[in-house]
Amino acid sequence: MLAGKKVLVGITGGIAAYKTAEVVSRLRKLHAEVHVAMTKSATEFITPLTLRSLSANPVYVDLFDEPKLWNVEHIALAEHVDAVIVAPATANFLAKIAIGLADDFLSTVLLATRAPIFVAPAMNQAMYLHPATQNNLTCLRERGVKIIGPGTGFQACGTDGIGRMTEALEIVETLAQFLSSRKLLKGKKALVTAGGTQEPLDPVRYLGNRSSGRMGYAIAQALQEAGAETTLISAPTDLATPSGVNRVSVHTALEMFEAVLSRFPEVDVVIKAAAVADFRPAVQAEQKIKKNGSNRVLELVPNPDILAELGRRKTSQVLVGFAAETENLLANAEDKMRRKNVNLLVANDVTKQGAGFGSLTNIVSFLFPDGRKIDFPQMSKHEVAQHLIREIANLLGVESKE
Ligand code: C5P
Repeated sequence: MLAGKKVLVGITGGIAAYKTAEVVSRLRKLHAEVHVAMTKSATEFITPLTLRSLSANPVYVDLFDEPKLWNVEHIALAEHVDAVIVAPATANFLAKIAIGLADDFLSTVLLATRAPIFVAPAMNQAMYLHPATQNNLTCLRERGVKIIGPGTGFQACGTDGIGRMTEALEIVETLAQFLSSRKLLKGKKALVTAGGTQEPLDPVRYLGNRSSGRMGYAIAQALQEAGAETTLISAPTDLATPSGVNRVSVHTALEMFEAVLSRFPEVDVVIKAAAVADFRPAVQAEQKIKKNGSNRVLELVPNPDILAELGRRKTSQVLVGFAAETENLLANAEDKMRRKNVNLLVANDVTKQGAGFGSLTNIVSFLFPDGRKIDFPQMSKHEVAQHLIREIANLLGVESKE
């Protein structure tokens, strides 16, 4: 299943390091080429010899060792691999990579690689729940690092709680699923919209919404990783453009309309994750509006519905819409799916805890015009994006390589 795929397994110094031997062994059984890099403290828990035997490759620990395979090994390895998994990832190691430290072999490779990075945190629950660790995980997630687990249960320190490393089987399944869908959309052109549009009232004010852009950015990254040539039409957000994605910045719904419609004929798939303002101020004041103690009435005019327009114009393109609702989720979403003529509608109740605007996670359902419906549990926006890629590939008639 993973023949031809090259995986770097990073091991840091936690007691769960013994479980990583099984990760390496399972990856090899799936025919992946496995390289292992360990931090110094990881070698206190499990020997490099074990990993060398299981991976059938030299194990990297010290940045200044004699070269084993290449000349500048950390760079060569960084460029060579298709994915990196750090398991277990200790609190200390997460902190290091969150700020970009590179003081040993593994952290240096992580800074140099462009390959997707997975981490499987493992630590005592107090350390895991500490705001410092949580901030580091948020920072890494926003940078596109994929976090696997941790799970809840008995911990080596004798307590019960969150912080157990995810089991080897699940880690390997997550990696295998990701790597096998990697080039699923190769040769396809994708357009994603993200963020909340801003409709100016005067030179300093605008009407906006609470969209963070996270869902759309996660989708753009997943499309790019699946091999699609990806353009992201983005309303203002604080997020970094995922690497390899072509970003076009817009402010208003009208600008987004132009940017999307002009590219529509050449693309295979459009995902409209942006929160587009339905109305804009009828006039934009040239100077800052002054208060004068009396009421002010704001006249709004409707913006074009970009998705509905795409639905009217579409030929062979796959169209994916979003429905962020605060009431009657399913009825509103189904109505939207038909009115806008989309192939897949992602519905989410934005009033739910762990879903919608600003949240790192989402709780969604996929609705299809043939009546099919898939309900997902709460998951990260990056995981939602992975599921979306698979459905888009199906809708485009792309054969899954699984
Ligand atoms: O009708 P509603 O705004 O709830 O529909 C949401 C979907 O329609 C989203 O996919 C959104 O990006 C898209 N939309 C649009 N243009 C608008 C309003 C919404 O493309 N003016």
